[in-house]
Amino acid sequence: MGPAKLQAPKGTFDILPPDGRRRDSLRAVADDLLGRAGYGAFESPIFEDTDLFARGVGASTDIVQKEMFTFEDKGGRSLTLRPEGTAGACRAYTEHGMHKRPQPVKLRYWGPFFRHEAPQAGRFRQFAQIGAEALGSDDPSLDAELILLLHELLGRSGVESRLRLSSLGNAGAREAYGEELRAHLRHRESELSEDVRGRIATNPLRAFDSDHEGTRAVMADAPRLIDRLEPEDAEHFAEVRALLEDAGVSYELDPTLVRGLDYYTRTVFEFESPSLGAQSGVGGGGRYDGLVEQLGGPATPGVGWAAGVERILLAGGANLPSERPVYVAIATEAHRRTAFALARELRGAGLGAQVEQAGRSMKGQMKHADRLDASAVVIVGDEIEVKDMSTGEQVQVADAREAIAVVAGAAVSG
Ligand code: HAM
Repeated sequence: MGPAKLQAPKGTFDILPPDGRRRDSLRAVADDLLGRAGYGAFESPIFEDTDLFARGVGASTDIVQKEMFTFEDKGGRSLTLRPEGTAGACRAYTEHGMHKRPQPVKLRYWGPFFRHEAPQAGRFRQFAQIGAEALGSDDPSLDAELILLLHELLGRSGVESRLRLSSLGNAGAREAYGEELRAHLRHRESELSEDVRGRIATNPLRAFDSDHEGTRAVMADAPRLIDRLEPEDAEHFAEVRALLEDAGVSYELDPTLVRGLDYYTRTVFEFESPSLGAQSGVGGGGRYDGLVEQLGGPATPGVGWAAGVERILLAGGANLPSERPVYVAIATEAHRRTAFALARELRGAGLGAQVEQAGRSMKGQMKHADRLDASAVVIVGDEIEVKDMSTGEQVQVADAREAIAVVAGAAVSG
């Protein structure tokens, strides 16, 4: 018996070339969209002090209570694989004195995140997020801008989604509301699920998230935070909504929207795609005006979102556009080096080009070119010929330069 087969750990996956290409295209679209709106490339470590997430994401959240990959390093420090990106961005903002830069500071990121959840379709233990954060201004146009950018990104990726929107107001109003909600929950405690009952004291808002029938009935009669916003917060929210309406983006005002992280204030939102089934959240975020300060930095407003790369690709019907390559076929062994050089020249001219590298017959090479969806095949023999794969037309050319000119034409028509 040979050694046991090794497999990728539960809840993780390998990315193979066809999917890799779709991810590359998605990343290019995200970088372009966010870059043009002034969001600069940002990266932070994949592991951070456990304390950052315990304090940032919130001790009573599922993420912190159940889902973190936490370990001790050789120096006895408790570290955690990042479950999300906002806390790290806020830490970096303070650590690098970014409050001294012109505000707002706009950041975009892309990378792996880790949550120890039960794996299912669209839910993994290692997944990638695209994210954007704007720190240092509470201007409602930032909330609207970010929501519109995510809307545009999903649209360009072929994801059909609906937007749920709400406001949580400021921390003070939320606290007063929390007391009111707790009183409501305690009054009807016997109708609630055990899970919700256990969290009345620590996180009563999560009751809105429950699938439990009895709990849902209690929540239908619950007081709503959105009716109790302070005037300044209500005005802020009205402005966000007006900007979205100006942009012609429709949304559903949903006061029961609960996000799984504790740092939110004011605007919260989530994009859901019906094609994703149970894990329907493709992306979400909101404002977190107290977070930087809570992590030991200066009082700094912030707003942002993150979207799941795998969920976007799962929900995206259309493939993002990609370029067809040119294939360089080799007539006989004697032409191998010329063909190899020609493929490099084609790439130098800005075209995608691959040369035969598996010793196939001419028939096999043409079949392979078909499989690659090549726009043209350059056949290198004593003569050089170019076959346009869309029209089937074949012409003889004098040299590499002429081949490149013809091929460039085929790529345009193809
Ligand atoms: P989140 O809603 O926890 O927000 O995650 C954002 C997105 O990440 C989700 O909508 C989903 O697409 C994807 N996601 C989350 N967990 C998984 C998983 N286990 N498998 C696959 N995809 C997953 C945040 O993380 C906040 N940091 C967003 C934010 C940024 N708020 C303000 N700024």
